[in-house]
Amino acid sequence: MSNGRVIGSDAVEEARQKGRLIVEVMPGDIVTALARESAQRIGLKLVEGPIEMAAPVRTDGSTAMRRALYRRAPKWQAPTRVVRKARRLGKLALIGAGGVGGNIAHLASMADMAEEIVLIDIAPGAAAATALDLNHASGITGAVGRCIGGESLNMVAGAEVVVVTAGRARSPGMTRADLIDVNARVIRAAGEAIRSEAPNAVVIVVTNPLDEMTVEMLNATGFPRERVLGMAGTLDSSRFRHALALAAGVSPADVEAITLGSHGEEMAPIPSRTRIKGRPLEIFLSADQIAVCVNDAISGGGQVVALKKSGSATIAPAHASIELINHMLGARTGPVPVSVMLQGEYGVDGVVLGVPAHLGQGGLIRVDEMRITADEQAALHTAAEAIRTRLGL
Ligand code: 2OP
Repeated sequence: MSNGRVIGSDAVEEARQKGRLIVEVMPGDIVTALARESAQRIGLKLVEGPIEMAAPVRTDGSTAMRRALYRRAPKWQAPTRVVRKARRLGKLALIGAGGVGGNIAHLASMADMAEEIVLIDIAPGAAAATALDLNHASGITGAVGRCIGGESLNMVAGAEVVVVTAGRARSPGMTRADLIDVNARVIRAAGEAIRSEAPNAVVIVVTNPLDEMTVEMLNATGFPRERVLGMAGTLDSSRFRHALALAAGVSPADVEAITLGSHGEEMAPIPSRTRIKGRPLEIFLSADQIAVCVNDAISGGGQVVALKKSGSATIAPAHASIELINHMLGARTGPVPVSVMLQGEYGVDGVVLGVPAHLGQGGLIRVDEMRITADEQAALHTAAEAIRTRLGL
């Protein structure tokens, strides 16, 4: 007596869902008329069993595991990429609505980074004009953040992030350090307004001389070091990457490079940590070529000043500032070069210097102490001493 199964239309449907092309019918099985009809309709064969199976391929455990994991079934779907959802700021304030401030506002608005972008500039009408200009573009770009411009520093009120670009820019022949006295006054005024009107803000200083002005901002706001950052290394590293990519004939995206130290003459590009297509720099470039790239990173800002005759770079510094905000908001992860007050990291204490760091919503999370050569470490110390001397510390 047969103890066969009854193969109904549900068994046929189940086989279809599993991606099978046949259903095995063993002696004694009963196939319902409906099952035969469904099988015919969907092109599934009813085959008399037992079907001879091919001998299993003998293989090692890890190959078997890989096969099991990646075996495709009709229901199999490629794992979806986890896209990091960045936080959006309520209010981003920009003190200084010149070239850098205006470009930051533009990029932030295009990236929908904040509900409100406030531009502030003492030049009458300048900030309001840029804000209006950006709002006019929204009919094309669809940007939803509102831009507001004005002259009063009180407009920073309630900002979560304040980027300070206000101050004089270099003219040809000037070093960034030549701006120290005139711009320190601007930073003090901005810092006092931030302290009273936006006491919880994270401040990003862009005004030159960058490291010195970051120290001034720390003093003027009284904020902890976590909430006063200087934008320099992101810009300098980008210039370094550009120079290396050009010399090696590769795309800048193939270059990993970092520049630490001061945003000035004592800048310290770090060749030992540089990789092109994941491989050491020396495979692609000679020592002379590397030296030219290092010099290009250091003199990049000056090259733009020399060409413009009045004013300095605006586009790359704006992108570099946005990069820092992206790290704070979680759109980017990993260490990013930023100027912060050091507390013993890299053997430096009590002075602002560009180092790799992890950023978050509240600004600095921690400084990343990566391995660098003794010469590179010495360059950082030279930079620290130069800043200390310029500030009379
Ligand atoms: C630069 O390096 C403005 O300091 C800025 O271009």
